[in-house]
Amino acid sequence: MIAIRNREEIEIIKRNALMVTATLTEVAKMLKPGITTLSLDTMAETFIRDNGGLPSFKGYGSKNNPYPYSLCISVNQVVVHGFPSNYELKEGDIISVDCGFYKDGYHGDHAYTFAIGEVGQEVLALMRVTKESLMKAIEQARENNRVGDISYTVENYTNRIHGYGVVRELVGHGVGKKLHEDPQVPNYGRRGDGKRLKEGMVLAIEPMINLGTHKVHTEEDGWTVVTSDGKPSVHYEHTVVVRKNKGENLSQFGPIEDAERANSNLNKGHLE
Ligand code: CO
Repeated sequence: MIAIRNREEIEIIKRNALMVTATLTEVAKMLKPGITTLSLDTMAETFIRDNGGLPSFKGYGSKNNPYPYSLCISVNQVVVHGFPSNYELKEGDIISVDCGFYKDGYHGDHAYTFAIGEVGQEVLALMRVTKESLMKAIEQARENNRVGDISYTVENYTNRIHGYGVVRELVGHGVGKKLHEDPQVPNYGRRGDGKRLKEGMVLAIEPMINLGTHKVHTEEDGWTVVTSDGKPSVHYEHTVVVRKNKGENLSQFGPIEDAERANSNLNKGHLE
């Protein structure tokens, strides 16, 4: 069953999704070579709690091995669910920062990939294309389309047109009262396949795209997903509500990109 959210519920989800945007904007301001990924997580958790929310990810998952942090910070060949650590960012790294904000019974969920200093053209192109694929996918989040129209759009643009590897083991999802709800939103698939979209459905659309092989594996910690060939991977995510003619973003990249432009330690090549 895919939930249809009413206006009040969508307002709460939007407010929470924009708190994730604000958190990622604070991250963007801090990024520079030498900073540890753990310091970003510490700042984010404080920021989230100071704003009356809870970090959606902390404690998420099975009782045996709940996710231990507020952010997922995935550097270079890490696809998603990287643990913040004492690793110091260095010039040439790319990092996906994923964050969830929970308040008043609903979640927002959204992610962005940043480049630290100078990053090669090949990786900048991967970032640009992955972000573009998300924007194209959001246009497909319209009434009476199907989930497969979103999935096909990401796969077609990133893989068929650009030749990148599309991760299959992890998918986007419905988001609302729970972080992960129906439906699953894969980044590969066929036009016209899957469940029919209705106005008011809220989806987290999140392409995870690899420079090389689509193959990935999970490390010993049970969370960290890495590319099998060690090549870089990029991840962008928006919380989106299905509307009549196209999806409406509840989260925003604008403030994050503005902070990126203002931060001289970040490579803005993918913003052009
Ligand atoms: Co998500």
